[in-house]
Amino acid sequence: MQNDILKILLTPEEIAEKIKILGKQISKDYKDKDLILVSVLKGSVVFMADIMRAIDINCIIDFMSVSSYGAKSEHSGVVKIIKDLDISLKGKDLLIIEDILDSGMTLNYILDILSKREPKSIKICTFLNKPERRQVDIHPDYSCFEVPDKFVVGYGLDYNESYRNLPYIGILKPEIYN
Ligand code: IMP
Ligand code: MG
Repeated sequence: MQNDILKILLTPEEIAEKIKILGKQISKDYKDKDLILVSVLKGSVVFMADIMRAIDINCIIDFMSVSSYGAKSEHSGVVKIIKDLDISLKGKDLLIIEDILDSGMTLNYILDILSKREPKSIKICTFLNKPERRQVDIHPDYSCFEVPDKFVVGYGLDYNESYRNLPYIGILKPEIYN
């Protein structure tokens, strides 16, 4: 698995440090709010597990799953709900937890659906931001790191469902997906 990685971009230590800071910021911003964290499966589970424990105010969590990418590293343009939320968003302060904001198409679709459920507020918290690839006008409210236009894996992010368990963010060797 490690042999397929061209370069380590973010070490576990760098990630942990950033998440601590972000958790403090979110705790401050949502002090008197009714916070629900919604994680978009499966890529954001590792980030979700870490950020929720870095938040020290009361909050609830839920998960949803959409499909956007197939086995390829390029966007298929198709996005559909595989698993919906269990909890009502009505009147809640929704913070969407994402692994990476790339073209923005997935999140654009999710925002559209979830905003119809009458949350009091909606914000986006993404672990990684790849602004060079954006196709729709979406900006994260919270983001841990900006990454270059390279296909990255680890810390929950996959290629063809693999590499999610790497504890760091690495650039995948292009020969793996070419
Ligand atoms: P978007 O709709 O293009 O913003 O893509 C969002 C989803 O694509 C993410 O939640 C990831 O699952 C996947 N994705 C985008 N870029 C990468 C990458 O560099 N590595 C792994 N997955 C990625
Ligand atoms: Mg993925």
